[in-house]
Amino acid sequence: MENLYKIPKHVAIIMDGNGRWAKRRGLPRIFGHRKGAEAVEKAIDFAHKVGIEWLTVFAFSTENWERPKEEVNAIMSLLVEYINKKIPELLERNIRLRFLGRTQELSEKIQSTIKKGEEITKNCTGMNLVVALNYSGRAEIIDAVRKIISQDVKRIDENTFPEYLYIPEMPDPDLLIRTSGEKRISNFLLWELAYTELYFTEVLWPDFDEEEFKNALLDYQSRERRFGKILEG
Ligand code: FPP
Repeated sequence: MENLYKIPKHVAIIMDGNGRWAKRRGLPRIFGHRKGAEAVEKAIDFAHKVGIEWLTVFAFSTENWERPKEEVNAIMSLLVEYINKKIPELLERNIRLRFLGRTQELSEKIQSTIKKGEEITKNCTGMNLVVALNYSGRAEIIDAVRKIISQDVKRIDENTFPEYLYIPEMPDPDLLIRTSGEKRISNFLLWELAYTELYFTEVLWPDFDEEEFKNALLDYQSRERRFGKILEG
């Protein structure tokens, strides 16, 4: 692809604005989520095409349970439908599907779908697609601390702490994209985002397409990452 020489290894996305997208059209919110699922497919295609190794999408936060039961159920059904539909295609394209969050608290049906998706794609090496589900950044840190205590680990530092996070081998995101004009982290990947470049766009998630993704990458490429150091020369 033209001008895309510095490809981030890991891109994380807060997919926001499905509800507003639907409301503007006088449609029920779930239509926005359905359209949002189509935008996820486009994002996967693009990320795969340009060689992004890890793509993480925030599908459902621990706070999202506060939404009306109808909407929660609709999102969950959509996720099960989507995962089942996507598995053969991910396998064919060598994409490994993984989940991030307190998935053990989800319904049996969702848990078995998740396990199936992870199991079938576990040997895929082309790209990692991480779906954050029932996820909270603070909960992830607390769960890591609990693991450390239960394993009676005596010494811990910034380098070894990530070994206790949900996916220890997941690299920190290089770029975080949030759609719909909100400029917040909203309890997403709190440990992992320490040095991540942040990109906010007004575009609502269902309208986020290849062109928008490309704009986010071009913006990322124009930045100089110093990780707190002063660059020479
Ligand atoms: C944010 O929009 C979106 C969500 C909380 C749900 C995300 C779910 C999907 C995109 C569906 C499919 C996901 C996958 C991985 C297939 P919002 O409802 O908060 O929008 P609003 O801020 O306009 O109300």
